Amino acid sequence: MTSSYKNKIKNSIPETPTQKTSPILEMANVTVAFNNEVVLKDVDMKIFPNETIVLIGLSGGGKTVLLKTLAGLYDPQQGYVKCYGYKWSELSVIDRHDLARKVGMQFQKSALFDELNAFENVAYPLKEHIQLSDEQLKVRVMECLKAVDLEKAQDLEPHEMSGGMRQRLGIARAIALKPEILFMDDPTAGLDPINGDKMADLILNLKKEIGATLIIVTHDIARAYQMAGRIFFVGDKTVIETGSAEATQSSLDPRIQQFIQGRVQGPLTSAVIAT
Ligand SMILES: Nc1ncnc2c1ncn2[C@@H]1O[C@H](COP(=O)(O)OP(=O)(O)O)[C@@H](O)[C@H]1O
Ligand SMILES: [Mg+2]
Repeated sequence: MTSSYKNKIKNSIPETPTQKTSPILEMANVTVAFNNEVVLKDVDMKIFPNETIVLIGLSGGGKTVLLKTLAGLYDPQQGYVKCYGYKWSELSVIDRHDLARKVGMQFQKSALFDELNAFENVAYPLKEHIQLSDEQLKVRVMECLKAVDLEKAQDLEPHEMSGGMRQRLGIARAIALKPEILFMDDPTAGLDPINGDKMADLILNLKKEIGATLIIVTHDIARAYQMAGRIFFVGDKTVIETGSAEATQSSLDPRIQQFIQGRVQGPLTSAVIAT
């Protein structure tokens, strides 16, 4: 991206998108299915630069599928996904690889390399994508580890770490290439409330520092309120924008109310209860 884009980010684009800004990610009429089982149907979505988008929904509702489809890792059966105005499906392998460098992804369960220590895990994407001297590599890796409070854990392998440390290491690796768009798949999963809170703070601080557009999945409504600009509910094969934390809380949609109140009975579970 050009430096003017970076400057714009530094001057902080407002969280609320305006009609004048072009979307950084756009989905139109997207249907994703696996073995004829439809997970998402006719989904439209626009995400603008510097937003913090939070995806909520029941387990198995399609949040990870939506995230990976936005990131160009899954191709939809119908419709298109554009990143910076380019359709993922129309890019050559090389262009796709180039564009993917602007995109960081922290995967659910972190997907770390078990046989590599923390330093080597973060160094991996840097070695893969760019030429750096040993010194430059060390500086960048340590910057990333420091950003997630892991600078003292550089020699530890994932199995020697707590769940929270592994989640943070996944984030350190995802930000190594200074992504402009950062996807996070349930970064507070498996964390106790205190560490979940710390993680949410860390993500918000990270956002201030790196100025990226964030798309975060969470199953935890309290975290969603803490982190969100705009919230989207994923479920029922569709994606429903519920707006800000306040707007989500006062949503009139019974599915949203069931989810945020954590009720066992309601429209989201009626099919299951009936069987
Ligand atoms: N690679 C895949 N192949 C087949 N089915 C998949 C795949 N990924 C996800 N699914 C299915 O899509 C649905 C949504 O899954 P997922 O996006 O992982 O849910 P969530 O992240 O909201 O818990 C599930 O029924 C799951 O089994
Ligand atoms: Mg998931």
